[in-house]
Amino acid sequence: MLNWDEFHEDDSAVADQPAKAAPAPAAAKPQPEAPQDDAHPAAVAERHGSYQVAEGDRLARARKSLEELDVAAGLEELEMGAARIEVDDKQMINARADLNQLVPFKYEWAWQKYLDGSANHWMPQEVNMNADIALWKSQDGLTADERRIVERSLGYFSTADSLVANNLVLALYRLITNPECRQYLLRQAFEEAIHTHAYQYCVESLSMDEGAVFNMYREVPSVAAKSAWSLKHTQSLARPDFQTGTPETDQELLRNLVAFYCVTEGIFFYCGFSQILSMGRRNKMTGVAEQFQYILRDESMHLNFGVDMINQIKIENPHLWTPEFQDEVTQMILEGTELEIAYARDTMPRGVLGMNAAIMEEYLHFICTRRLAQIGLKEQFPGAQNPFPWMIEIIDLRKEKNFFETRVTEYQVGGALSWD
Ligand SMILES: [Fe+2]
Ligand SMILES: [Fe+2]
Repeated sequence: MLNWDEFHEDDSAVADQPAKAAPAPAAAKPQPEAPQDDAHPAAVAERHGSYQVAEGDRLARARKSLEELDVAAGLEELEMGAARIEVDDKQMINARADLNQLVPFKYEWAWQKYLDGSANHWMPQEVNMNADIALWKSQDGLTADERRIVERSLGYFSTADSLVANNLVLALYRLITNPECRQYLLRQAFEEAIHTHAYQYCVESLSMDEGAVFNMYREVPSVAAKSAWSLKHTQSLARPDFQTGTPETDQELLRNLVAFYCVTEGIFFYCGFSQILSMGRRNKMTGVAEQFQYILRDESMHLNFGVDMINQIKIENPHLWTPEFQDEVTQMILEGTELEIAYARDTMPRGVLGMNAAIMEEYLHFICTRRLAQIGLKEQFPGAQNPFPWMIEIIDLRKEKNFFETRVTEYQVGGALSWD
């Protein structure tokens, strides 16, 4: 396998080519004349030794503004003299406690996930893409069905992670009223940026038509249906006037959490992930597969964090989890499963990579059952089995809670994962 150093050697070969003549420097533009202090008395600046500070009366205005700060709204916001935060003041939603104080922790699971996510930081450029580039460019390296899977996966994921990031930052963040959860949300938001970067890096490395890839979420029906379903569930929370605090609005927040954590990140990613990882196990597109493997491990933690948030909100607000609402949430997860099965059929018109649409359907029924169970809902496909036991090696579904604890040492070396 090629290594990253060789990749840079390729770059240096280009760099060794004779450099083109540098363009002649543009004629120096005339610089505006410096203001003449003496000519403008209002703009006289203070002199400190050999240097000049704060032109004109700006410094005086800044000092005057600071003198007036004690009547500004900022002090009221800080609640000077208020009692210190107690753990019991904290809650997931609708908390009145000061949100600027990270400690004392109430939700250790949130802080631990922030630490685990940060310990497993990675960047897309650390993955060697040379073998993928050669395979993608060769005439008979991949079958047409395999190429379709790579294109569809990059098409869906290149915008899906942006949808997730936008939901976090523009809709969800302000409504989760707990500092340690917000700390993880900030970490997650950055990881989503890294994921979008990874897909862009794959598209650029393979010299794919970036317009075709990044527009697939509104041009290819099976991809568009999933993206549209996710977007529908971010709209109400993203309205500037949306606030939680009533049973109806609190349930709307829960719908958003289910739509993004359980369905978008918990179901919509699983057909594409298993297809690309199956490709990697066959020693094809190993760079793309390695990027997906890192992303899947991040996503596994995002999903578990979302499940923990949903279950904690249920504990603190049992009145929200009515039988009718449970029925509605079950239906949402079934809708997501159906959309992912339709995507599987579109991406696999024939058997490919040791899988086909029917086997993927069983896998997605297994995933659906798992998602329902994680938030305490009744399974809908009793007896559905996992037809891809090798996926457990990558995302151990039965050990999601301590996945990183068992793999952390191996993972932290980065860029050296094997496909055995
Ligand atoms: Fe992501
Ligand atoms: Fe995610």
